[in-house]
Amino acid sequence: MSTYPKTSALMARGTQFLGTEHAIMCGAMSWVSERNLVSAISNGGGFGVIACGAMTPELLDSEIAATRAMTDRPFGVNLITMHPDLSELIAICARHGVSHVVLAGGIPPKGSVAAIKAFGARVIVFAPTLALAKKLLRSGADALVIEGMEAGGHIGPVSTSVLAQEFLPALAEDHIVFVAGGIGRGEAIAGYLEMGACGVQLGTRFACATESIAHPNFKKAFFRAKARDAEASVQVDPRLPVIPVRALKNKGTEQFTAKQREVAGVLDAGEVDMGEAQLQIEHYWAGALRRAVVDGDIENGSLMAGQSVGMVTQEEPAADIIAQLMAESEAALARR
Ligand SMILES: Cc1cc2nc3c(=O)[nH]c(=O)nc-3n(C[C@H](O)[C@H](O)[C@H](O)COP(=O)(O)O)c2cc1C
Repeated sequence: MSTYPKTSALMARGTQFLGTEHAIMCGAMSWVSERNLVSAISNGGGFGVIACGAMTPELLDSEIAATRAMTDRPFGVNLITMHPDLSELIAICARHGVSHVVLAGGIPPKGSVAAIKAFGARVIVFAPTLALAKKLLRSGADALVIEGMEAGGHIGPVSTSVLAQEFLPALAEDHIVFVAGGIGRGEAIAGYLEMGACGVQLGTRFACATESIAHPNFKKAFFRAKARDAEASVQVDPRLPVIPVRALKNKGTEQFTAKQREVAGVLDAGEVDMGEAQLQIEHYWAGALRRAVVDGDIENGSLMAGQSVGMVTQEEPAADIIAQLMAESEAALARR
């Protein structure tokens, strides 16, 4: 019998889908979600996801192999839909027999979902609106993550609590839906499970796990921060739609404003088209996040973090965080 019977019962469809003990996913975090954190999450009973981000196909190839050497439990790979080598990355996943692929960063390009399903993997997608969610599920996606604006990293405009009320009653009975954004404790997990979610995804809460290779400076910044320090970036130019990013405010968040002005300038001058302008913005984030996570430059780098950052106060093994979340959820459900 499960240590967490009520929570496990509500997570049953999620655990079956993921092949895990608990339906708790650690969302991919570029530079952070590599072999060490991903295997620790999966070995701890959750579901780790490798962040491919801007990795080359060769790097993804070696990261999957290295992760597999550290865990015999299931884990996923997160691919960004606008990656120029998406087809090659899918082929690498196929070669390794990856069981779950998460497609993030936009509407999956034509043929990508079919290409993943062709080698037997499950496809997990994000959808910002209910209409798009229905369309993606109709056209072959196996599961959905709804992610609210409390989350760290790139965000949409709507809060998790509102998305959950809008999406879960419409989809949860017939589909596998995970809820993400702003989850810091198990009581919140219990609430979303009761609303019909079959699991959850967290990022911020796991970013400073003992096994996370994030620089000690990055982790210290998280331990110091409160919810209100994790701010959404502001769009400067109405012609240059920027997907907002939630990060701890620092010099880097100010520099992003300057970067937008610079890109708007070259767009004005006709030196780049809109697609290229947006790609430049994305490259800015990839570089800035690396500076903070890998180099520990917490002034100029990007400290992507969600509003749950105030609940991250110390380094803890990933397995302990998962056990704590499950215990909190179970206690909440037992009180009902
Ligand atoms: C440092 C950081 C980096 C992230 N990078 C990515 C990424 O590369 N791809 C992605 O799909 N989501 C990314 N995310 C979002 C997470 O996968 C996850 O969905 C989110 O953190 C969940 O919300 P929470 O932070 O409130 O727990 C990132 C989040 C953080 C905090």
